[in-house]
Amino acid sequence: MMREKIADRFASVYKNNARNIYFAPGRVNLIGEHTDYNDGFVFPCALKFGTYIATSGRDDRCIRVCAGNFNDEFNQWTLDQSIEPDPNCLWSNYLRGVCALLLAQGHRLTGLDVYIEGDVPRGAGLSSSASLSVAFAKALSDINGLNLGVSDLARVAQAAENDFAGCSCGIMDQLASAGGRAGHALLLDCEDLGFELVSIPDDLTILIIDSRVERNLVGSEYNDRRSDCERAAKALGVTTLRHTNLSALEQGRSQLDELAYRRARHVLSENERTLRCAAALKANDMAVVYQTMRDSHISMRDDFEITVPAIDFLVATVDAQLNNDGGVRMTGGGFGGCVVALVPKTKASEIETIVKTAYCEAYGIEPNIYHCEAEDGARTLLE
Ligand code: GLA
Repeated sequence: MMREKIADRFASVYKNNARNIYFAPGRVNLIGEHTDYNDGFVFPCALKFGTYIATSGRDDRCIRVCAGNFNDEFNQWTLDQSIEPDPNCLWSNYLRGVCALLLAQGHRLTGLDVYIEGDVPRGAGLSSSASLSVAFAKALSDINGLNLGVSDLARVAQAAENDFAGCSCGIMDQLASAGGRAGHALLLDCEDLGFELVSIPDDLTILIIDSRVERNLVGSEYNDRRSDCERAAKALGVTTLRHTNLSALEQGRSQLDELAYRRARHVLSENERTLRCAAALKANDMAVVYQTMRDSHISMRDDFEITVPAIDFLVATVDAQLNNDGGVRMTGGGFGGCVVALVPKTKASEIETIVKTAYCEAYGIEPNIYHCEAEDGARTLLE
């Protein structure tokens, strides 16, 4: 439906038919939080929501973009001059960044008319921005014959966010958006970007509950967590926390301040849990999968301190319904955003009803709840 809509919108805005349509999804992370920028392990999957990009070639060297989510606002730049971020059009910076970085890598690009629209719930922490930059990288790769693979797409999209949108995120969101596979989660090693697809049993639903708590703090707190981790790595004599483990942390404890110690304990234990969770999912040992999710939440709450009361409430409410037959934890950067639960399909609707009522009573707002499955990553919809 979005595909038809975006083709129609392109035609009405540019008075011309789109030649190509591309799509890249948002993501949800099952486990492995704040480990990506520590070169550790994450275990996300791609979602049904994402960003759609319709394009058609131009005769000149101009890239003209129009955003459906921003009242059809236009932005444009030329490929012949140095491309800079536009402070008055923040959404365009993800696209400007992808373009500039591909040019800097020596790729030749052609002029384009572009129409964009996405259906990732905004502000929920489900990576609408990564889906935008990955979709555009995928579009430019295909149109210009660049043949970029999953990790190339993810790297250029992440660099665009880092350098042009001022967000110092890790690589998880972009990699999940580029490389997701229907019915699977990706066990990603953020050190070398190698990944393994692990299938998720058909009888489970990925339930995503958006607390709708505004993630105001996420930028500054995120950067603080990153520097706590870097301080811990330095004190332990390693380049990143990937190169140490929990027993080395205990031995080196006196070298670290208390905060750095707890942050590192989260990251190192989370790496172990992520590997354990993926192995257990492969072995269909669901009790271990669910336990690692539960432990991950506790570690994010107590050691990494990135949860808020509304999120802890949602996790506790879901957990009370599960009787150990399902797992639940906060997902994403923290300070609001979403909770993810892996639950039997047969239980999902009942949990939804109970959580809605309880959350409304406690916080006076209705959470947004999505029943999801893992979907495919970035792709061409029309060529
Ligand atoms: C945000 C970032 C990711 C990752 C998560 C936490 O989503 O964009 O790179 O660090 O937070 O796991």
